[in-house]
Amino acid sequence: MNQFTSVNDVQDIGQLVKDALALKESPYSHQHLGKNKTLGLVFLNPSLRTRLSTQKAALNLGMNVMVMNMDKEGWALETQDGVVMNGTTVEHIREAAAVMGQYCDILGLRSFPKLVNRDEDYNEDFFNKFIKYCNVPVVSLESATRHPLQSLADLVTIKETWTGATKPKVVLAWAPHIKALPQAVPNSFAEWMCKAQADGMLDFTIAQPKGYELSDDFTPGAIITHSLDEALKGADYIYVKNWSSFKEYGKVLTYPEGWMLNNEKLVGTNNAKVMHCLPVRRDLELSSEILDGPNSLVIHEAGNRLWAAQAVLKQMLEKL
Ligand code: CP
Repeated sequence: MNQFTSVNDVQDIGQLVKDALALKESPYSHQHLGKNKTLGLVFLNPSLRTRLSTQKAALNLGMNVMVMNMDKEGWALETQDGVVMNGTTVEHIREAAAVMGQYCDILGLRSFPKLVNRDEDYNEDFFNKFIKYCNVPVVSLESATRHPLQSLADLVTIKETWTGATKPKVVLAWAPHIKALPQAVPNSFAEWMCKAQADGMLDFTIAQPKGYELSDDFTPGAIITHSLDEALKGADYIYVKNWSSFKEYGKVLTYPEGWMLNNEKLVGTNNAKVMHCLPVRRDLELSSEILDGPNSLVIHEAGNRLWAAQAVLKQMLEKL
């Protein structure tokens, strides 16, 4: 694997899931791969899970790790070409990315969308420029439109916990929030689940209120409904997440009632397990009774971020 920015960078998602679970059994079995290799993690936005799990994954593989909080500690970056830099930006991404590539064998990058201009965000301009100019393999720590390390961990969690005789029914369920959040996590989850569905691993449904439909590019083959109750019938896994509107880009539309998952809504599911990428706002986005109850997988899922990151870094190190 030369880079990891979406499911399209993965040859065989089933094999990558198996690799992650094998590393969970034997975390230190590939320390030779990372000896004298350096991972640089570049954050333009906050993070708890991605930061710690990716660092730990690299350490398990014998790598050295450096973290750069670009938003707080770096120079203000210019991304546009052909501008006279007489404003607030201090360093151009051409030099900044190229220099970081001089110090690192692999770079990780987190860069959220601005949620103002849809084309700008969905073109992944910043991310693509960083990849172009750093000249080393890049792993996405969440871009404007995708969060593939999270989605891999989610698929690992489903595969690891599913004990049924038939394919599980997986539901991505929109949830309320007071802020406008990116579509990166649901886009990416949908993209991975659609691929897993095409590979015969599961059945996938998305439920969201009218106006919150994701881009069709991320949902090929998914069943899509505006009824949460309909989607939850017979569900084995419910992936709860808020996102802002794609159509009315970046907007929080009218605040619909009845979309926060609670124990009452689990009646009619197949005693569904509940997932969320975290961080989660309790009793706004997801009820405390679910988070603290036996159906919640959120901590298990966050734990699997480590093995997902380690499986990806291992494949990237093997290609260096
Ligand atoms: N789920 C996730 O990516 O968490 P962080 O934003 O804390 O890294």
